[in-house]
Amino acid sequence: MTKALDGVRILDFTHVQSGPTCTQLLAWFGADVIKVERAGEGDATRGQLRDIPGVDSLYFTMLNHNKRSITLDTKKPLGKEVLETLIKDCDVLVENFAPGALDRMGFSWERIQELNPKMIVASVKGFGPGPYEHCKVYENVAQCAGGSAATTGFDDGPPMVTGAQIGDSGSGLHLALGIVTALYQRTQTGRGQKVLTSMQDAVLNLCRVKLRDQQRLERTGVMEEYPQYPNGTFGDSVPRAGNASGGGQPGWILKCKGWETDPNAYIYFVAQAPAWGVICRVIGKEEWISHPDYATPRARLPRLMEIFATVEEWTKTMTKFQAMDEMNQFDIPCGPILSMKEIAEEPSLRATGTIVEVDHPERGKYLTVGNPIKLSDSPTEVERSPLLGEHTEQVLAQLGYTGEQIAHLRSEHVI
Ligand code: COA
Repeated sequence: MTKALDGVRILDFTHVQSGPTCTQLLAWFGADVIKVERAGEGDATRGQLRDIPGVDSLYFTMLNHNKRSITLDTKKPLGKEVLETLIKDCDVLVENFAPGALDRMGFSWERIQELNPKMIVASVKGFGPGPYEHCKVYENVAQCAGGSAATTGFDDGPPMVTGAQIGDSGSGLHLALGIVTALYQRTQTGRGQKVLTSMQDAVLNLCRVKLRDQQRLERTGVMEEYPQYPNGTFGDSVPRAGNASGGGQPGWILKCKGWETDPNAYIYFVAQAPAWGVICRVIGKEEWISHPDYATPRARLPRLMEIFATVEEWTKTMTKFQAMDEMNQFDIPCGPILSMKEIAEEPSLRATGTIVEVDHPERGKYLTVGNPIKLSDSPTEVERSPLLGEHTEQVLAQLGYTGEQIAHLRSEHVI
């Protein structure tokens, strides 16, 4: 079967997490992704957080599937020549170097356009144009600058970062969409263009509901579905909402059987308005169905914490999976807090290819997250990440380099 991006060739100049997330997705959709790395060291993540000495880390392997790796010193004149050949041969250059690094290497947008006017140049940077555009940025910096940290955690605690890599993987996702959109526009215009995703923008985009709440707060001074209501206080910016729902249906995390020893024996419960009657019946509070203090969503708002505590008395009598089964019978929205161990072992995620076991020549078998975007006509087969420089000779030969020329590049330590 053909793949959606068959025939698209990507010059992958990415490293760490944000850029590699993007190019991995493009590879899963069928693009030929050629990862350019420095000889000897490669992407820094190959050696970070290693669990097996001398073997590419899971950090690297889980972000670089289905790619080819070539080594190239792009600061040496001969390396620049190879890079020029690659630029002429590829459709997209993806990079997430520190601001200005590509220019310093001699490959400005103008120079790339001269070499290949059809080339799309896609970049992740920490910040967009403005006071911080020159800064180097990692995940948590973006979470802090994009509004996530200020709005995550509990009211009486400090700002919190989240485990979801919304700055890195979130930016990679945004960039991938920008690239396929630019490829589509190129079919009309015949021209390449620049695609930029700033990590701050990506995080803010994912925190859109908090900017919504900022404006609601400024208009009304209070947000009734936030845990600060009715007994706490609101300041002039969106407070941390604990585990409150981000939408119009109130929700909270409730204890289940075993919570004293199991850190994940919890369930997320949503007091969805249409399910109110059945919720009351299930927890044995039928009198709440018609009681004026509880009968309507508005009446319940100042009593949400009391309601959640009452539902929790019920959820504490069963495991999170039993609570899930009980509530699902009646279409009450809820979700168990699944540990990474439980997710890794979940058969249905294996069946859909969301969790995949991959074999690697140096590390053996490991688990990874497969393609979360499923295309019916372009199925993803996850292939192991490349060893450093594994495809250097293959790619150079494809570009027209002879064996003698390749040997020369090697003797000059360019590859
Ligand atoms: N051959 C020769 N030189 C190479 C090379 C190659 N194949 N690949 C990279 N380099 C050089 C770069 O040109 C750069 O040189 P310069 O500093 O002389 O211009 C140098 O390697 C280091 O690149 P840099 O991006 O500055 O790496 P870093 O480790 O210092 O910084 C980040 C890492 C992630 C902080 C930085 O790249 C960054 O801010 N990126 C944008 C935001 C981002 O994506 N952050 C999230 C990462 S998950």
